[in-house]
Amino acid sequence: MSKEVQTIGVLTSGGDAPGMNAAIRAVARKAIACGKNVKGIQKGFMGLLNEEIMDMQRKDVSDIIQRGGTILRTARCDEFRTEEGQQKGADICRKHGIDGLVVIGGDGSYRGAQALAAHGINTIGIPGTIDLDIACTDYTIGFDTAVNTAMQAIDKVRDTSSSHERCSIIEVMGRNAGYIALWCGVANGAEDILIPEKYEFREQEIINNIINNRKKGKTHHLIINAEGIGHSTSMARRIEAATGIETRATILGYMQRGGSPTCKDRFYASMMGAKAVDLLLEGKSNRVVGYKHAQWVDYDIDEALSMQKVIPEYEYETSRMLAI
Ligand code: F6P
Repeated sequence: MSKEVQTIGVLTSGGDAPGMNAAIRAVARKAIACGKNVKGIQKGFMGLLNEEIMDMQRKDVSDIIQRGGTILRTARCDEFRTEEGQQKGADICRKHGIDGLVVIGGDGSYRGAQALAAHGINTIGIPGTIDLDIACTDYTIGFDTAVNTAMQAIDKVRDTSSSHERCSIIEVMGRNAGYIALWCGVANGAEDILIPEKYEFREQEIINNIINNRKKGKTHHLIINAEGIGHSTSMARRIEAATGIETRATILGYMQRGGSPTCKDRFYASMMGAKAVDLLLEGKSNRVVGYKHAQWVDYDIDEALSMQKVIPEYEYETSRMLAI
């Protein structure tokens, strides 16, 4: 039987997400409550390779649950994609006595965790990304805050769009996934929602839709466009030329990743952080925490990475019908 984990490291990796601090806090507090040592690793896997590692006490995670971003900072690291980088990372963990590591991030970060597990470090992943694009979980830390931030911003654009009787294209984040666009599209009452999972080039259909809506008396036309489709500015130019209706593009960008996390993000992050520590204390490794069908669950990382996430058909079809 393997020796019980004594020192738990924690890092955040990839794009930051509101609620990551709540997860860091939960990892640290749960581990300390269970009599373990905690080490915070700065700047993700890059900081691990540079040995930017510090002891963490209970007070080091005080007053952070309400803060956006990540106090540990984050980075994307090419060196960690190599076998040498991964071996070096595992050796550095051992040198610092880190025998369990919690990695908070998206799919790419899980690959790093998986590699470290293969090199003998017990690792657990926590889904932290605003994109909601992780298949093994119904929830990812940061999504709720990001969609609320985007929704509020879109409401504001809508005000000015209807005052000027314009068409507005608002581009939201999500990398290759359309969850932020779908949720905001429904919540903001958009006329069109463009998501990469469902996009066949249907610009003429959108143009006809705008013209028909104008005839029906709609004063504005709101299009939520996912980052995975992009090209919002050139799309606006083409729509304006084809319809004669003033059309503006707004790309919301990084503001969607910032801000104080919502209650939901803080709560889920707290549970997931604690669960990651539980798994390490049970001697588990190469697993990822998730929330599925109203249960806190965990999966083997290999299995988690092989799962496919799909946009629920009912949600997409409903979004189209409500936009009539
Ligand atoms: O994964 C979160 C995310 O904000 C995506 O929505 C976006 O595509 C990407 O990160 C942007 O990454 P970067 O911070 O490297 O520009």
